[in-house]
Amino acid sequence: LQIPSPVQLIWQHNQVEVWLKRDDLIHPQVSGNKWRKLKFYWQDFKKSNKSTLATFGGAYSNHLAATAAAGAHYKVPTMGWVRGQELTSNPTLDFCRAQGMQLHFISRQAYRQKDHPAFLKDLQNKYPHVYFIPEGGKGPLGIKGCQAITQELTQKFDWICASAGTGTTMAGMLLSQYPARYLAFAALKDQGFLETNILESVSKLAPQRGSKKSWQQKFSVQTNYHFGGYGKVNADLITFMNRFFAETGIKLDPIYTGKMFFGIVDLLNEGYFKPGSKILALHSGGLQGIEGMNLKLQKQRKTTLAYEA
Ligand SMILES: Cc1ncc(COP(=O)(O)O)c(C=O)c1O
Repeated sequence: LQIPSPVQLIWQHNQVEVWLKRDDLIHPQVSGNKWRKLKFYWQDFKKSNKSTLATFGGAYSNHLAATAAAGAHYKVPTMGWVRGQELTSNPTLDFCRAQGMQLHFISRQAYRQKDHPAFLKDLQNKYPHVYFIPEGGKGPLGIKGCQAITQELTQKFDWICASAGTGTTMAGMLLSQYPARYLAFAALKDQGFLETNILESVSKLAPQRGSKKSWQQKFSVQTNYHFGGYGKVNADLITFMNRFFAETGIKLDPIYTGKMFFGIVDLLNEGYFKPGSKILALHSGGLQGIEGMNLKLQKQRKTTLAYEA
């Protein structure tokens, strides 16, 4: 499944270069950071005596779709626990089913328990043959897989930018020790906790590499570009993404990478990056979510992502 993820120059603006690392090209469905995060869980699953792979996600989850696709590819049965019981069919869920994933819809309240040891123990007792991957592929093995993103770089960048949900991808890149400053663009509202999450992950996994304070100096979280919260979009964002596609031929996703790029351009215009800086943005995939978002926007008679033109 793993194919190279090239790095390409997108813009030069006020003597600042913006480059893109195309993790979206890794695989049509197991794309972006999904493959990075799944890789070591997959290896661990293969070493285990379990026969089925399961994970957790929302109704539009890229991670659920990627796990389902990887399972179908390697002929491993998969199960998905979905947040909420109100939406049982959309392009993501239909794709998961078509890949053979067995879906379980649980209440939002029950879903909140998904990381609690007691909840997981009950689930494991009920499904002893199942290997459970945490939501979004977070956790130490997901972080380990994301280190490769920056380890693959062969040129010098001053800034590394990535969209962040759980912060797993950012934590992995920080742990790779690629020397740069790191910017995480929060895809969710109220993401003050993202900084804490990232800091706790890196200082726990590599305590010998410095204090929390020294890690803190290496990255910061941008919290101004979530557009009202997870999965929320507005016409400015959609128009920006359509323009980006028209100019570059590259599709961004509306939940993560579109918002990150909007933020990068906004910061560029503000003069946040010094002239002469080289910025690398990670295209972390998520393109399977476009169809579902467009259906939602069409229903609301709003501007849609026009990637087919
Ligand atoms: C396409 C895409 N980009 C970025 C992220 C955020 O990654 P992380 O949760 O590791 O911060 C996700 C979610 O996992 C995603 O699906």
